[in-house]
Amino acid sequence: MGKTLSIATLSLLLFLASTGNALNVFDVTKYGAQANADITQALLNAWKAACAAAGSSRVVVPEGTYRLGEVSLRGPCMGPIEVLELSMAKDKLLGNKMIVGENTNCKTLAINLRFDFITNSIVRDIRSMNSKNFHINVFGCKNLMFQHIIVSAPGNSVNTDGIHIGRSSGINITDSNIGTGDDCISLGDGSQDVTIRNVSCGPGHGISIGSLGKYMNEQPVFGIRVIGCTLTNTTNGVRIKTWPSNPTSGSATDMHFEDIIMNNVANPIIIDQVYCPWNQCKAQIPSKIKLSNISFRNIRGTSATKEAVELICSRNILCERVVLANIDLTYQGLEGPATSTCANVNPIISGKQNPPACVL
Ligand SMILES: *[C@@H]1O[C@H](CO)[C@@H](O)[C@H](O)[C@H]1NC(C)=O
Ligand SMILES: *[C@@H]1O[C@H](CO)[C@@H](O)[C@H](O)[C@H]1NC(C)=O
Ligand SMILES: *[C@@H]1O[C@H](CO)[C@@H](O)[C@H](O)[C@H]1NC(C)=O
Ligand SMILES: *[C@@H]1O[C@H](CO)[C@@H](O)[C@H](O)[C@H]1NC(C)=O
Repeated sequence: MGKTLSIATLSLLLFLASTGNALNVFDVTKYGAQANADITQALLNAWKAACAAAGSSRVVVPEGTYRLGEVSLRGPCMGPIEVLELSMAKDKLLGNKMIVGENTNCKTLAINLRFDFITNSIVRDIRSMNSKNFHINVFGCKNLMFQHIIVSAPGNSVNTDGIHIGRSSGINITDSNIGTGDDCISLGDGSQDVTIRNVSCGPGHGISIGSLGKYMNEQPVFGIRVIGCTLTNTTNGVRIKTWPSNPTSGSATDMHFEDIIMNNVANPIIIDQVYCPWNQCKAQIPSKIKLSNISFRNIRGTSATKEAVELICSRNILCERVVLANIDLTYQGLEGPATSTCANVNPIISGKQNPPACVL
């Protein structure tokens, strides 16, 4: 493997300014890091030195195998910082090729990588394996690009969302491969202007907006684009889910799913406004989250269940401006061809519709 970093939680709280010219290099081995040893303190010290230095800085972790405990890399810093290995290309702002593992001694379940309040940054070539909790959590960030992210965990590992985004804007996730036990990507409240492109997902629960409406004072969701993605053997494909009986009203709008391939996906297209797993809510009270301006275009492949399309909106507030265009989902099972169900929505239909739209 070469680069096993055993990380409980890598908590990043940093602030990256715009790129300058001078480059200061902070090599963790100069701060006491040794191969196969615990480099938590060395990394922290190198980061602190980089953070305090004027101009651009680079924190270098030379190729090797290290141990790393929970580490919080905090800002604000004097200049932009890269964290990377020597073997990585120079143009990366934040690109640390590392394999993130788990610490089985942790009492609270660790998230492998947290990005909190990061702005204008790039995260590339990260591999996260077998997280105990979410693999990557993004909170309060702005203009953050994730590229070439690999997430792997068994399909039966509970609550191990690949990338969870909340209260963040201008987030892109591209060219990534996510296999895990929960949502490959989940977008919580306050996800705004998020583009997900060329992501392969599976196993897992698919790409989800939500769940929304469980908590008080959630922020609106808007401007979501999921383009050119492939889902394989997942329980859902593209999904929007909101809880019934939610405390306050809210909204999610301008959400578009385009050019998606489904391979053996149990619920390829699903809007679920009666999302209430394990009877945690009063399911009979309708959701107060308004969903609007949603499109599903060019979505094809195979469904693992007969019900390939489900659009179940709130009976209190109907879904508005939902588009189904060029849908081609087949089901091979004995119960006959794929079907679709609609409730409290009148989708705008165009192009091919297999299954026929809103016909059980
Ligand atoms: C994200 O993608 C959008 C649309 O392709 C682009 O306009 C934006 O600059 C990208 N943002 C980042 C942070 O890469
Ligand atoms: C999609 O992402 C994969 C990596 O997961 C990459 O190999 C491939 O080149 C990307 N495709 C495009 C069209 O960028
Ligand atoms: C998807 O599931 C099928 C049937 O269970 C299996 O044969 C196939 O290997 C799986 N594909 C992937 C990429 O895991
Ligand atoms: C609906 O979504 C489209 C595509 O993103 C956007 O251009 C348009 O402004 C949205 N309309 C409303 C009323 O939000």
